[in-house]
Amino acid sequence: MQTADRLKKIPPYLFMELRNKIAKARAAGVDVISLAIGDPVEPTPAPVIEELARAAHDPANHRYPTDEEKGMLTFRQAVARWYADRYQAKLDPATEVLALIGSKEGCHHFVLARVNPGDVVLMTDPGYPAYRSSILMAGGDPVNVPIRAENGYLPRLADIPSDVASKATAMFLNYPNNPTGATATPAFLHDLVAFARQYDIAICYDNPYIEVVFDGEKPLSFLSIPGAKDVGVELNSLSKPFNMTGWRLGMALGNKDLIAAISQVKENTDSGVFNAIQLAGIAALSHCGANIDEMLGIYARRRQLVLRTLSDVNIRFQPSRGTFYLWVPTPKNMSSIEFATLLFEQAHIVVAAGTAYGQYGEGFVRFSLTVPDDRLELAMQRLRQAMQ
Ligand SMILES: Cc1ncc(COP(=O)(O)O)c(C=O)c1O
Repeated sequence: MQTADRLKKIPPYLFMELRNKIAKARAAGVDVISLAIGDPVEPTPAPVIEELARAAHDPANHRYPTDEEKGMLTFRQAVARWYADRYQAKLDPATEVLALIGSKEGCHHFVLARVNPGDVVLMTDPGYPAYRSSILMAGGDPVNVPIRAENGYLPRLADIPSDVASKATAMFLNYPNNPTGATATPAFLHDLVAFARQYDIAICYDNPYIEVVFDGEKPLSFLSIPGAKDVGVELNSLSKPFNMTGWRLGMALGNKDLIAAISQVKENTDSGVFNAIQLAGIAALSHCGANIDEMLGIYARRRQLVLRTLSDVNIRFQPSRGTFYLWVPTPKNMSSIEFATLLFEQAHIVVAAGTAYGQYGEGFVRFSLTVPDDRLELAMQRLRQAMQ
């Protein structure tokens, strides 16, 4: 069977390849520890599960969730309250908030809602690989903007050639950043609003790690910046703060024309999120803030363990202050693939090679902290031995 040409342009999804590699090694009896994927192992908080169970028993929730096309108004109100209380961003739940099946879905539908075939779409390199795939599927032209350690992994907007910026209709950004862990500053976000206004570029500020910050860093929403709502949307998700990656629940917020356009795409594509999951999401947002602090404590401890181990084997660097990833420079001038292969072969640890996120990821690998403590301790013991 011939499949669509558009799929030929899309590189294999990084984690599918890694999963196959891990499965093959495990089938051969190797005890592989994967530090590759960012997927919390701790359970979803009990009040969320209880609310899902209750709501699943109610036949009113068994029907299509499309009676309010942007998601249940009560969910959108809970999201708006969360944004006002935690990030000082004021949003109208009627027009400026939309329920999503995770922020990844929002990235994809944002492009379909905004980008015409042939339009340039800016994204960072290194960057989250799903942006490129979504841009290509929509017929857009992804253009990479390098982000480098010396600029705190923030793009230098002034370095984007004006002929490229003039052709761009959208830009993806994501801080706290996957994969580098970098966080943004209010000053950068002010510049971003001005840049977007100057070139009429719609910003998709993908912010699922907003709560995962360390060392005194404060959560920062794009929507807390004056004018942000005029130029873009922020995407967010319950996946990371509430250990709900499998539930598929997120939200798009901000510019009401973009929200309406994404909603139009969704009405014709997926009919929205199961009501019982939205009700469980309200329980998370209303009663489970403490889960975030608990998870941050766990990640901070694991972060210290990895940093200490790396330092002991002479891999020393200044870690970024966000996400549950560590963006680690390779030792001894090894390439990303060489170091990832060494860790896999000598220590049976899987890490993501930096080049999977773009050419500027060369010289780095990404460690994820979403593994149980005992497995991480074992991984660090093996790493020490492999690096002796
Ligand atoms: C930058 C970025 N955006 C979006 C997602 C997807 O999150 P969700 O589970 O909300 O779809 C991820 C997941 O790892 C991510 O790293």
